Amino acid sequence: MIQCSDLREWGPMTPNVLLRDVTVEDLPIFFEHQLEPDAQYMAAFTPKRKDDFTAHWTKILSNDEIIKQSILIDVHVVGNIVCFEQFGVREIGYWIDKKYWGRGIATSALSLFLLKVIERPLFAHVAKRNIGSLRVLQKCGFEMFGEDISIPNELGESVEEFVLQCVGAPRFDAGGMPALPGSYETSTSSQCNF
Ligand SMILES: CC(C)(COP(=O)(O)OP(=O)(O)OC[C@H]1O[C@@H](n2cnc3c(N)ncnc32)[C@H](O)[C@@H]1OP(=O)(O)O)[C@@H](O)C(=O)NCCC(=O)NCCS
Repeated sequence: MIQCSDLREWGPMTPNVLLRDVTVEDLPIFFEHQLEPDAQYMAAFTPKRKDDFTAHWTKILSNDEIIKQSILIDVHVVGNIVCFEQFGVREIGYWIDKKYWGRGIATSALSLFLLKVIERPLFAHVAKRNIGSLRVLQKCGFEMFGEDISIPNELGESVEEFVLQCVGAPRFDAGGMPALPGSYETSTSSQCNF
């Protein structure tokens, strides 16, 4: 059972960054995002052909067990963030349009997402070479959990990965609002009560 809080009462962590449910209209935008070679290298991701990509995301959209949100700056879709079950644990993943890298968007989006998805622990598999994603996760309270080898791609290639885990709840300020992005309890507190 997936537990979600209602984000609307919290609003965005930082101005302009918003999350909302993914729509079919977002899929061609996500398709373009995954064509960027630098992003593919970071994420050790093999790009999909349009038909395969659309079929893959259509399945995701019809699966209520997968939490999927589009990341928006104002009205512009700049990426996506998802939480899904893999090998019996809840995993997260995200992708930001290269044009918007380096502006704190992934950090803000993941911070918001961690308010919405209150289940813990959450895990993330990250290619060891993906320094940016490792930094995003660590800023949002994920801690090193172990190492793994990725599932081989269509060419049979695998990469070494770090596995990170999030067990903590976000912190709140005196007014009950989420604290700044990156301000998270860590494994000293495994409760997630909010
Ligand atoms: C990884 C990714 C999500 C980062 O998105 P972003 O919006 O640029 O990240 P942020 O701006 O929030 O950056 C957060 C931190 O990571 C650092 N960072 C981001 N990209 C980096 C890079 N390529 N190399 C080194 N550091 C990087 C930033 O400097 C920042 O650190 P700081 O606050 O100490 O300065 C984005 O590059 C992306 O979508 N890549 C392709 C898909 C992918 O890798 N997904 C994750 C799979 S696990």
